[in-house]
Amino acid sequence: MDLLSLAKAVKDRAQEPFTDVLAAARIVTDPRLPLLLVLDRTLFTPLYRASFLAAAAGSGVLSCLAARPCDLESIAERIGCGTGPEDRQRLRAWLDIGVRLGELRRKEGCYRLRSRTAKALARVANDPVAAALEELMRFHVPALRDAPRMLADGGRFTLSDQDGLVIARSSLVVRGFVEAAIDRTLPRAAPVRLLEVGCGSGAYVRHAAGLNPRLTALAVDLQGEVAERAAKNMAQWGLADRVETRRGDVRTLDLQPQFDVVTLHNNIYYFPPEERVEVLARVRSFLAPGGTLLLTSSCRGGRTLGIEVLNLWFEYASFGGPLPREEELLGQLRDAGFDDVRAAGVVPGQPFRVFTGVNAHAGPVGARPAPPAPPAPLPQTAEEAAS
Ligand SMILES: C[S@@+](CC[C@H](N)C(=O)[O-])C[C@H]1O[C@@H](n2cnc3c(N)ncnc32)[C@H](O)[C@@H]1O
Repeated sequence: MDLLSLAKAVKDRAQEPFTDVLAAARIVTDPRLPLLLVLDRTLFTPLYRASFLAAAAGSGVLSCLAARPCDLESIAERIGCGTGPEDRQRLRAWLDIGVRLGELRRKEGCYRLRSRTAKALARVANDPVAAALEELMRFHVPALRDAPRMLADGGRFTLSDQDGLVIARSSLVVRGFVEAAIDRTLPRAAPVRLLEVGCGSGAYVRHAAGLNPRLTALAVDLQGEVAERAAKNMAQWGLADRVETRRGDVRTLDLQPQFDVVTLHNNIYYFPPEERVEVLARVRSFLAPGGTLLLTSSCRGGRTLGIEVLNLWFEYASFGGPLPREEELLGQLRDAGFDDVRAAGVVPGQPFRVFTGVNAHAGPVGARPAPPAPPAPLPQTAEEAAS
């Protein structure tokens, strides 16, 4: 047999494996493969994990599995899944990706939490972090993803693109900062009448009420479902008789100057910069003479990436505006008529700032107290002095 015939015979006998080897060689030497493998490890899989965990936390699956291992039926019930066989199949497909990602484990027909991250996010005490993950995936990611399209088609985020209840929970990631600000500012012994604007969950009114047992409060929030939840929280915390909670927009609230303290936590950027002086002046009009404004906010100019992306969301929103800069907000507080305006940090290097101002002058909304008259010029001549 000549060499050519031998090669042909081998090729005929091993046609398929031979082709596979060639194909495999072509695939593994594809110059794009290393990039794809690196991205799979550094981008795709973490993104899948974050998406799965955010959905599992938001839907209640994590807390359900934290209590006990659950079968498909009980998870379906928990998340309000449809009852058809196809719904079950789709739920299983989603949960099995969670297993594949290493977040869940399936054993004897029941799902359990597996990863340390899933277990940590399921803890009640870590709820603000779980909500922050949800906020990031549902609102921050679209801001990054959709910005170029929105620039082209003029689209804007609206308040209804947010989920007020998720934001009310995620805002509590800065709880330590806000509570430190309240601790520094709130009078403890005297009776205090507090107005909280944009109360979210109501957790900070609760904190203030715990510090001063003679404090009573009005807590308002623009979003109906947020105000309703805050009212339920107040009842659950045994504060319903000291705290009135209602839906309200600070821009149209009609209140007497009856409050000793007004608080705005983490919401000044819900107002466009050009409206902030007017809003703050209105807030001042609710304060009794000598009353104090306490405003807390993350500010621009820091190095925290999450704050910059939050800022981006508001840059692309049809309402509100960028997060404040410290100097800019100090000026707006003065322009709104506040005295003794100050800003302070809580932890060095953090972009979170505590702003305070005093309503020294009772006056109409928007009025900046008139500056004191300049001193009269000294008489120059004996005639002027005599006149
Ligand atoms: C980021 S959340 C902060 C919630 C809470 N203050 C906290 O720190 O946990 C901002 C809240 O301000 C409320 N808000 C925005 N504009 C408002 C307005 N014009 N009047 C009253 N509340 C407003 C929103 O509905 C939202 O619940």
